[in-house]
Amino acid sequence: MRIDKMLANMGYGSRKEVKQLLKKGQVVVNGKIVKDGKEQIDPFHDAVTLNGAEVQYKEFIYLMMNKPPGVISATEDDYDETVIDILQPEDAVFSPFPVGRLDKDTEGLLLITNDGGLAHQLLSPKKNVPKTYFAVIDREVTDEDIEAFRQGVTLDDGYHTKPGDLKILKSGIYSDIELTITEGKFHQVKRMFEAVGKKVVYLKRVSMGPLQLDESLELGEYRELTEEEVLQLINVSKLEKI
Ligand code: URA
Repeated sequence: MRIDKMLANMGYGSRKEVKQLLKKGQVVVNGKIVKDGKEQIDPFHDAVTLNGAEVQYKEFIYLMMNKPPGVISATEDDYDETVIDILQPEDAVFSPFPVGRLDKDTEGLLLITNDGGLAHQLLSPKKNVPKTYFAVIDREVTDEDIEAFRQGVTLDDGYHTKPGDLKILKSGIYSDIELTITEGKFHQVKRMFEAVGKKVVYLKRVSMGPLQLDESLELGEYRELTEEEVLQLINVSKLEKI
């Protein structure tokens, strides 16, 4: 692959901008300054640096973020900080985007990638990818609620949800619950509880398909998925129905 193509593919600028970087002698391949954009390199084996920083070639990036509250699940926003704004420049260069949305006040597992095909598959309603949420509810959650969610509940717009698997972790004036759903309607968890007369006061996503939130990530922190996690996601995305 041509060195200018590799750098442009990785988001270091247009071919023209990359040409300037090369001209200025900022690109080094296997210890030698390369100024000619036509120079052929092996992107997976040659050691490429730009201004001394290693350029690791990959097409796709897969990140798991523990989304903090107050940040928007979008690539850009006129008013609020987005999950992309809090990425390091070396990750943002891949132009990743969040797979699905968590509300501004929701915390927890958010997959961020530039693999549009995978994102499309994971979000497809046909795939029924389960998403599990931990929530605190403003009153007692009962066995009737478990049964109601098992049957699916009718939301404020008349939509009847698919079944949800509700587990009561702690019941009381405030209850801790875990809810697994296979859809991703707008504010779905909050609206499902509203349908049974209750309010979600805290919401955190803990899993999405095979992906579990890495609890060692502080709010706002993220890490790359392991190879195994990526393979598991790819397998899920290939299944017709899970
Ligand atoms: N359901 C909600 O109500 N909010 C979220 O952020 C995710 C699921």
